[in-house]
Amino acid sequence: MSDETGAAWELLHGDCLRLFEDVGPGSVDLVMTDPPYSSGGFTRGDRTASTAAKYSGAAAPRPDFAGDNRDQRGWAHWMALWLGLALRSSRPGAVLAVFCDWRQLPSATDAIQAGGWVWRGLSSWDKPTARPQLGRPVQACEFVAWATAGARPIEGGVGPRTFVGDAPRDRDHQTEKPVAMLREWVRLAPPGGLVLDPFAGSGSTGEACLLEGRRFLGFEIDRHYWEVASARIGGIDRIGARSTTAQPSLFGAGVSAGSDDPLTPPA
Ligand SMILES: C[S@@+](CC[C@H](N)C(=O)[O-])C[C@H]1O[C@@H](n2cnc3c(N)ncnc32)[C@H](O)[C@@H]1O
Repeated sequence: MSDETGAAWELLHGDCLRLFEDVGPGSVDLVMTDPPYSSGGFTRGDRTASTAAKYSGAAAPRPDFAGDNRDQRGWAHWMALWLGLALRSSRPGAVLAVFCDWRQLPSATDAIQAGGWVWRGLSSWDKPTARPQLGRPVQACEFVAWATAGARPIEGGVGPRTFVGDAPRDRDHQTEKPVAMLREWVRLAPPGGLVLDPFAGSGSTGEACLLEGRRFLGFEIDRHYWEVASARIGGIDRIGARSTTAQPSLFGAGVSAGSDDPLTPPA
């Protein structure tokens, strides 16, 4: 299990649909994630473009990422699949927080409910430097649809509000989220509680967890991003918390390393 600071982490390489099998039922306090949106347009052709063409506004190119080319119905079905597995992994009352854009918002909230979660509301991420649009509102928001695993007691600190801030400028992933925003969200898990991100990308949720003293379990299917995230979280770990590299099963009986790769974050 984790040390007394609550800082411990594990990042598995593989498809979340497979890796969820190894998460003990009822072991997760918060599912905080940013799945591939399969968005960036309305038509099948739009959506199957490379993720760089769809999302990358940054100067330096970053490798494409996986799983972003489903059509609307396929995406909603796939979302419901992993959301059901995430519910099984979560303790009663746990929170689910899922990023999505305006195009996918209706499908996302349908899928959350199809997966068995109780949809509770929406929060937003407001990007101040979003591109102005002539004769129409600035499309400056992404959303966080949130839900609970059944009833959740009304207790604990005040939760996150709309976050105002841009995506990191020097980012490693095309759709990287700001750690400052994620730090507010991961506080919904109790100190030392377990946060799961099944679409870890560059590891921003993991960084937020270590900075906030929450344990982190991440999945990432793309080997490049798994390596990027492992190095990133490992770097935070060395600065702010004890190394966990000698703890191959740090989430105890509830979670085991079920990936095709040995659990060896870079030292
Ligand atoms: C939108 S990005 C997440 C970016 C992340 N929030 C960040 O700040 O860097 C989604 C990630 O999920 C990964 N992914 C896609 N399908 C997956 C699957 N079935 N299982 C695990 N990871 C998957 C992609 O490779 C991609 O890196």
